[in-house]
Amino acid sequence: MIQNQPPDWWKHAVFYQIYPRSFYDSNNDGIGDLNGVIEKLDYLNDGQGGGLGIDAIWFSPIFKSPQRDFGYDTSDYCDIDPGYGTLADYDRLVEECHRRGIRIVLDLVLNHSSDLHPWFEESKQDRTNPKQDWYVWVDPKDDGSVPNNWLSLFGGKAWTFNEARGQYYMHSFLKEQPDLNWYNPEVREELAKVVRFWMNRGTDGFRLDTVNFFAYDQQLRDNPQRDPSEPILEKGQAKNPYFHQNTIYSKDRPENLEFIHFLRELFDEIPGTTSIGEMGSNFGLEGTIRNTAEYVKGQKHLHMAYTFAMLSTEMNADYFSKIVELTEHHFQDGWPCWSLGNHDTRRLVSRFECKGEREGFQQMMLMLLLCLRGTPILYYGEELDMEEIILEREQIQDPLGIYFWPEHKGRDGCRTPFPWNSGEPNQGFNQGGEPWLSGTSPICLDQAEEMQESTLHLLREMLKIRKSEPALQSGSYRLHLLQEDCLIFQRETDQQSITVAANFSVVEQRLDHDFSNCSDLTPKTMSRLGRVDGTGLVLPPSGFFIAKH
Ligand code: GLC
Ligand code: CA
Repeated sequence: MIQNQPPDWWKHAVFYQIYPRSFYDSNNDGIGDLNGVIEKLDYLNDGQGGGLGIDAIWFSPIFKSPQRDFGYDTSDYCDIDPGYGTLADYDRLVEECHRRGIRIVLDLVLNHSSDLHPWFEESKQDRTNPKQDWYVWVDPKDDGSVPNNWLSLFGGKAWTFNEARGQYYMHSFLKEQPDLNWYNPEVREELAKVVRFWMNRGTDGFRLDTVNFFAYDQQLRDNPQRDPSEPILEKGQAKNPYFHQNTIYSKDRPENLEFIHFLRELFDEIPGTTSIGEMGSNFGLEGTIRNTAEYVKGQKHLHMAYTFAMLSTEMNADYFSKIVELTEHHFQDGWPCWSLGNHDTRRLVSRFECKGEREGFQQMMLMLLLCLRGTPILYYGEELDMEEIILEREQIQDPLGIYFWPEHKGRDGCRTPFPWNSGEPNQGFNQGGEPWLSGTSPICLDQAEEMQESTLHLLREMLKIRKSEPALQSGSYRLHLLQEDCLIFQRETDQQSITVAANFSVVEQRLDHDFSNCSDLTPKTMSRLGRVDGTGLVLPPSGFFIAKH
């Protein structure tokens, strides 16, 4: 913990997600590591006003793991994976981050462990061992078949048979990721020790993987099929049979919120500890947001939670404002949290095929992200317009891509090495050792530094603006205008009012809005600047404008 910080620091912070495997490889073995991150911290925030200017880092899992799902399969929750470093490296990372005013958020995967975790190795032995009830073991039906119709999100059934026990175990993801039995108090106590272990090491918060999956229907009822007329939140998932079920019995159970209380009480043991839940639900847009709101309301739930709504391949002014309006409406006292990319989603620049090769569109989206009410999370490389890398079948590492090829090519494309320097081997990711994932980025950091209107400069500038304008951090949100694929909204505190405008369309738009007596705050490094013209505002395609009253 950083001394003397307000307990709600996370409401004013800008987060940056690092995929540690791909950030910086300090020992040239092809895998990014904690020492690599430490070497590059000044780039993110040097603690003296230099660097990108982020306030907190969310690390994708760094715990010991056989890496079947790249850390989302943990085999020891209280140790660092040797590929990333040691506990001593972690302690140094905490110290170096805190010295610069950067907080650390770790990604805890508590719904399931790795099948190589000693808990599972013991549990699977027989039906009488001390950990026999630590996972979800169920007898076969009379004919030997699986207990019900639940599916794995990563393909196939959610059940795998174990000979020794003559039973099936449940896995919401890979069969190498058995679901823990959260109903067993011993399991909860053991997970509590994990949370305390990392809090005591100075960790400032947790991103909670698949946080709506912990509970499941104790009667194991079959999931109903979805109503086909209801659109699937993410179109790319339409080919996965999992998304054709209405998964009301295998996840999103109302009783899951009791497990969330349990976690929140733990976090509250060290004030200032924050949490961000990942909420992948199948309830359509409004249903998913309404459900997520339950996870962040009051003081007994999570501090923040995000859905996949903004991560969709669809994007226009109507859809954007609908997500925000629904969130504002349902979240009540809950604090929103926003991102445009993560390690599970196509890269921002490459995602909106509907927009074609639209220069500046990603910049406009990032500007909007930083103007919403709530905590923004940037994904590493967004500042360099990192693109989705297309890999050959043989290069695919992600189990999801291996299973669903060619319909789903996996998530490797958004997890490629960070391009530090165009003049160095592997674009400066390391000293030339073969990176775990290949992929060359069109713009490296050194080149972005040289460009006048790079996204890098723009983000640096906008992060400063956000920090100096209270209305952007904590002001209310009000939609002002929505027309011609453009939107105008207002952020307001008692003292200050800020107006934000953006053009999602492919043509220049003129909007009638009174901007007299306001000062233009639009970052000058923006490539598509909006401008006031008489009684209105002119916005080029992907144009953005922000002003203070
Ligand atoms: C979450 C993670 C994803 C992982 C899955 C299973 O969705 O973000 O990367 O594969 O959970 O743990
Ligand atoms: Ca390394």
